[in-house]
Parts: sequence; C-alpha cells; structure tokens
Amino acid sequence: MERTVALTAAMVVLAGAGCAREPGGGTPDAEDGGIVHVVCGATEEWCAATTARFSGTTGLRADFVRLSSGEALARLKAGRGSVEFDVWYGGPADGFAAAGAEDLLTAYVSPNAGAIPARYKDPGGIWTGVYVGALGFCSNPELLTELGLGVPDSWADLLDPKLAKDIGIAHPSTSGTAYTALWTQVVLAGGSTDRALEYMRKLHPNVLQYTKSGAAPAQMTARGEVAVGIIFSHDCVAAKEAGFPDLTVSFPAEGTGYETGGVALVNGAKNPVSARRFVDWALTVEAQEIGPTVKSYQFPTNPDAKVSDKVVDLSAIPLVEYDAVEAGAAKTALNRRFDGEVAQAPKS
Ligand code: F6P
Repeated sequence: MERTVALTAAMVVLAGAGCAREPGGGTPDAEDGGIVHVVCGATEEWCAATTARFSGTTGLRADFVRLSSGEALARLKAGRGSVEFDVWYGGPADGFAAAGAEDLLTAYVSPNAGAIPARYKDPGGIWTGVYVGALGFCSNPELLTELGLGVPDSWADLLDPKLAKDIGIAHPSTSGTAYTALWTQVVLAGGSTDRALEYMRKLHPNVLQYTKSGAAPAQMTARGEVAVGIIFSHDCVAAKEAGFPDLTVSFPAEGTGYETGGVALVNGAKNPVSARRFVDWALTVEAQEIGPTVKSYQFPTNPDAKVSDKVVDLSAIPLVEYDAVEAGAAKTALNRRFDGEVAQAPKS
C-alpha cells in the first residue's frame, strides 16, 4: 500500500533550513529523520487531514498508511526487527493493548496526557485515547419496511430470520469495529466467550458478508445491499452526510460496546523524537477538533476540544463496561476461535 505524505509549506521552509524544529528550539537527534511514519486506523480523510495539520503546525513531515485494526497489528508483528512505522494512531484501544502485550509498542506518557481523563488512557502508558465512539446499528428503513421489520433496537432483533443475509459486519480478525461487537457479546454474556461465540453463530445466517474494514457495512446499507450494518454509529452519521440521509442510527437496549481510539509509539521506531511530538500533538485541542471537518464525529478525549452536535451523547446510550485492556488480552485467541467456529477472515 502506498504511503500518503503530508508535505507542507512550513515543512519545506524547515527542510530548506536543514533541520526540523523541536518544541523549545531543539532538533530531532541524529537517529531521527524529522518525519513520522503513521499506521493510521481512522478514516482515510481523517488520517490525511491529521498528518497534514501536524506537518503544518510542527514543521515535521508525516506520512500514513490506513489499515484496519487487525491488519495494523499483523503488519506491526510482521515488521518486528525492521520497524516501518513510528506511531500507531486511531483504531480501538484493544488492538493497542494486544500490540503492547507483544512488545510491539513502547510506553510513553506524553506531557499532554494529563489533560486526558484516566478512563481514556492505558494505566501502563502504552496508549493514550484520542477519541471515543459507540457501536450501533445503521439501518436502511426502506428495506426494513419491505421485510416487515422496524429499526432494530436489541441484539436479539438481529437474529430474526427475516433478516437472512441482510446484515453487514466486518470480520473481527481484520476489523477493530467487529472485534468491539464480538467483545461486547462477551461482556453481555457475563464474560463467557463460549456464549459470545454462540450468539455470533446464531447471527451468522443473517450476515451477507464479513468485510475487512469496520465502516464498509455503512456503504452496503446505504446501497441497499443489506438492511442493517453493525458499525460505529459515527460511521453511519458520516454516510448520512455523504448523501444517504435516510439511514437510521439505533442502539441495542441490552447495552453496546464502545471504542477508545488510541495513539501510541511503535517499539523500535526509527524516528522516536518526531514520533513523540506526534503523540503530544494528537492530544491537543487543535488535533482533536479536526474530526468533524472531515465528517468524523467521534467524541474527543481532550475535555477542552469542541464537541460537534453530530457526536452521539454517550451518556444517553446504554454502554457496557468495556475494558480495552481485558479485551486486548483476549483478542488473538478469541479471533482464532471466531475464524474456526463462525467464519474465516476475508481474503485480501
Ligand atoms: O471510521 C473510523 C473508525 O470507525 C474509527 O472510529 C475506528 O477506530 C476505526 O474506524 C475502526 O476501523 P476498523 O474496524 O476497520 O479496524
């Protein structure tokens, strides 16, 4: 996959001067090229806007590759020993927790992390939260009416045989969104992975396709390929804004999972000074107000960042207790079981 490079006028000026600027007048050390290679789990548009703004503000270059959470984890594992990324930005924190447990990330407590509430940070400093998003259902009401169904408001509703092959969800091995859905079932089943997989097996006949990326079912629902997508609710809001206003967001009454989108330093990063600058900056108000400018309506973790009125009110929906560290610890084994007992991961 090609890297997308943010090259700004500010960077050109600094490159012309032969150095990249550090806060307080320092320069990256000899080991640091004044560039940040980002593996980015947010939308392509957000990744592009974020790396460009980072470059504009700091004078450091940044490029990114957009990968879904499981793909990013696999790529970090494959790159062990010859690390290609400096920072992982975006994507549910359970992926970061899984990566941390495999020594693929390195702890870094940014001086700016003090502004971020404790519930959005890894206690061990491996990742820091940059946004929060809630899992929901994204429905095509016209199709549901044809099927004689209303908008679903429970996980049980999704098991209705009338929805056969009418649900879109990603595969948890590749997608952080789908893993959030799977771990939500574990929480709702009181911690039983067996019962969670039993629910997913019951859901399986209703799933048309397990996509690689978590947001893809929004498009499937918008195009009328499926009646319901199980996705982060902000991805449904983005699809509504992109020309499908009839799409309807709902949440399951039993409780729904949520993500804390993370940022972290990659272990063995080749540009560690610039990478830390990126993490510091990602926690600022400036960085956290970029989302809504590119139709990304997650809740910012910095309490001083403006919250768009298109962001879901997290206090108004029934969230489950979602422990990203616990979910991350279970991720590899649970996904392996999903592959074997429910459905294989989509081929690239
Ligand atoms: O589209 C953005 C987003 O929903 C993020 O909020 C989330 O962290 C990410 O996508 C998950 O992507 P995936 O499911 O493809 O790993």
